[in-house]
Amino acid sequence: MVNFSTIAQQMRSSEIRRLMKLAADPSVISFAGGMPNNALFPVDTLDQLYASLSTEQKQAAFQYGPTSGYPPLLESLKTYLASRKLPVGDNVLIVTSGGQQAISLLSKVLLDPGDVVITEQPSFIGALAAFKSYGAELHGVPIDADGIVLDALEGVLTKQAGARLKMMYLNPSFHNPAGILYSMERRRGLLELLRTHDVCLLEDDPYSELYFDEADVPATVPIKALGSEPVPIAYVGSFAKIFGPGMRLGWMLAPPDIMEKVELAKQSMDACSATFTQVLAHAYLSEGKLPGYLATVRKAYARRASLMLEALGAHMPDGVTWTTPRGGFYIWVTLPDHVDSSDVFAKSLEQGAAFVVGSAFDPEGQRNNTFRLAFSHTPEERIAEGTEMVCRAVRACL
Ligand SMILES: Cc1ncc(COP(=O)(O)O)c(C=O)c1O
Repeated sequence: MVNFSTIAQQMRSSEIRRLMKLAADPSVISFAGGMPNNALFPVDTLDQLYASLSTEQKQAAFQYGPTSGYPPLLESLKTYLASRKLPVGDNVLIVTSGGQQAISLLSKVLLDPGDVVITEQPSFIGALAAFKSYGAELHGVPIDADGIVLDALEGVLTKQAGARLKMMYLNPSFHNPAGILYSMERRRGLLELLRTHDVCLLEDDPYSELYFDEADVPATVPIKALGSEPVPIAYVGSFAKIFGPGMRLGWMLAPPDIMEKVELAKQSMDACSATFTQVLAHAYLSEGKLPGYLATVRKAYARRASLMLEALGAHMPDGVTWTTPRGGFYIWVTLPDHVDSSDVFAKSLEQGAAFVVGSAFDPEGQRNNTFRLAFSHTPEERIAEGTEMVCRAVRACL
């Protein structure tokens, strides 16, 4: 018999995974996956970029590279981050194998079993899984349309002060799963509050470029860019939603003491992120391909969101509420307290549509009168039909 580690023994296949297997049937209209539609990937651009590389660059692409990242990509990322009002300054930047690896690396260097992580309630399932895999205890703080509720957060911070509070995790722009955008006031209020508490903030920001309306751009400025001293902030970004998740590339920007440990942890994990995709990502940024791509996908996601919102407005019964996203991939639906979204999921699947039940995003894994609809992946022409199926399932469960 294999003698597994304590952490591995605690790992469980979740109910969510079982539900997701059912949703994988190609005849099902799925709003489950938080991913782009394949037709939106910039495959022609990629062909051109690869063809334009010199033989030397192509050879470098097949080679191992520095753990911190392919140096030309680090340079083009620095320029990109400066354009987003986030100059590297005294921080250190590294390339990671997706934003998920950055979250996991930070957890690895900060968390001991029993340490406390504050998250939003609801929160990103991948981050929750990473924190749990290091034995963390999670405390969820509610959010409203403008972001995390500061009074509630202050209560938790005060209660946890002196306890084993190590880290706080937030996804302020076009939140997964709630779809909200933190207001500038909430961002500043949060920083003010954190100044008086000893906690490291993990700011996870893969969706901020995917706004539907230019008027929202000022509110998408990273919290880390707002003069965050002395709050230690690790800022995480990703190419997943602005190029393609298959590139498996993200980045982390954090103070040098944190990054020294993160780089050591990464060295023992994967030596370096894929050089091949880093070479392509560098060409993508440095040849100015990102702005045109973003302009296309912003319109596509805005259209998809409005199709879903229209169908929800037309078919969802009274007593059910949902968020109106101003960017990103998601709509978060809240049912009356007594309704269990797993029952709605079962009925919806019978109809032919799938989503992710709310308990997947609950740090405590309990609350389930909610669910997430992703409008990003489904073919546009099936969004209205699928949403109507979900609404019918809700009606049957009320
Ligand atoms: C909030 C959030 N953070 C991180 C990630 C992980 O991104 P990546 O594919 O770069 O690992 C995702 C992916 O869905 C996400 O929604």
